Amino acid sequence: MFEGMSDLWKSKFAEAFEGRVAFSLDPEACQRMASDHTEDLVFMPGVVVEPSNTAEVQEVMRWAFAHDVSVTPAGAMTGLSGGALPVNGGISLSTKRMNRILAIDELNHQVRVEPGVIVQEMQEAVQACGLFYAVDPASRGSCTIGGNLAENSGGPRAVKYGVTKDWVLNLEVVLMDGTVIQTGANTLKNSTGYNLTALMVGSEGTLGFITQATLKLLPWPRFNALMLVPFRSAQSACEAVAAIFKAGVQPSALEFMERSAIELAADYIGEAAPAMDAQVAAHLLIEVDGFSIEQLMPQLEKIYAVVEVYDSGEPLMAEDEASKNQLWRLRRVVGEAVKAASTYKEEDTVVPRGALPELLKAVKEIGERHGFESICYGHAGDGNLHVNILKRGVNDAKWEQDLPQAIRTLFERVINLGGTISGEHGIGWVQRPYMDLAFSEEALKLQQAIKAQFDPKGLLNPGKIWPMAV
Ligand code: LAC
Ligand code: ZN
Repeated sequence: MFEGMSDLWKSKFAEAFEGRVAFSLDPEACQRMASDHTEDLVFMPGVVVEPSNTAEVQEVMRWAFAHDVSVTPAGAMTGLSGGALPVNGGISLSTKRMNRILAIDELNHQVRVEPGVIVQEMQEAVQACGLFYAVDPASRGSCTIGGNLAENSGGPRAVKYGVTKDWVLNLEVVLMDGTVIQTGANTLKNSTGYNLTALMVGSEGTLGFITQATLKLLPWPRFNALMLVPFRSAQSACEAVAAIFKAGVQPSALEFMERSAIELAADYIGEAAPAMDAQVAAHLLIEVDGFSIEQLMPQLEKIYAVVEVYDSGEPLMAEDEASKNQLWRLRRVVGEAVKAASTYKEEDTVVPRGALPELLKAVKEIGERHGFESICYGHAGDGNLHVNILKRGVNDAKWEQDLPQAIRTLFERVINLGGTISGEHGIGWVQRPYMDLAFSEEALKLQQAIKAQFDPKGLLNPGKIWPMAV
């Protein structure tokens, strides 16, 4: 490939775009786009390009296509599977300057955005109009809507409101050769042809570069209640999860945290962990929401009755907004806290909700067999367990040799339970070796044929998702 052979393409790029599109060859700028939140991976791009509009994206991609230079779409670099890492160097194509909320349509409950908009900023902008964008990843304060679209992000509220794909009406996408396509329409229903919107969402920037999106909104359910329920056994906390739904309640969040997760998070932000006695092994963090305060209590009463059966301790109710924010903050920083504590490997396992107790059991059994310590937390209501395997205490040779086998064994179990290998973090760079577990050879080939149709030269976010090169 041109880019691999020499740095010549960089000067050609500079010549072509100087004064026309914002870019930087500066090592510090490149360094910022060389890592995300996945482990400690570093891949330097050759140039960081920050287009301001669709036409500029088109020009850059057309040039890259003509010159055989790879392009890696990038947002805020908060990804957890390495999806935005420029593993072949080339162009890191950033959404940074495409960060406008183009229109909030209050009549139709829709918002039109550019991909670089920070998710929390969009949530707050629509809330000011009494509207609600439900997808709420832990990194909402820094992640972008483009990154969420690429990875089909979830987060705590997915249990009631679904994940990013459930809120996308249509997209504008620039393909690798510079062609612009529109998918979908501004309608709530659409039965017209193959669903290219759905194909793009979750494709991790391997099929096109999203330049605009229209998202669905809801009326804002502005009342909610939040409680932290301690359990003496992590297993019984997981068993309580499906029982809560069976009792006829639909929480707006139902999160699981092992004791070590909450303690690490509290340490990380320098706060005391919520008071818990020595026997507490795990917590469920449960939120219910509604359009009036009266809607909350009946839901909470049903939940109390269920958790008691599973040997819970006294639930801690968040009394006011400040205590709610504090609990949510603890929950949101668990990922960062684990990263700060040890070299680690994160798995994003997901199973049908009722199989969560079996999943947790498998994680611990496999860990014990291989001598790996794990910290588990995540979106229990979705059956989505983030399994963080810690390196501390494990020597390098064992980490390199045994860990992939342990992960494979865990994923096999996940698939046997009816689950899959990533619920919301994507496959990106780090989960590729396990794709053979998720799909048959025929299904893998079909997906790779789709990739080849969109990107025949294999220039767009190369090296991602697929176990072997297309
Ligand atoms: C979370 C991220 C890691 O749930 O997905 O905190
Ligand atoms: Zn998560």
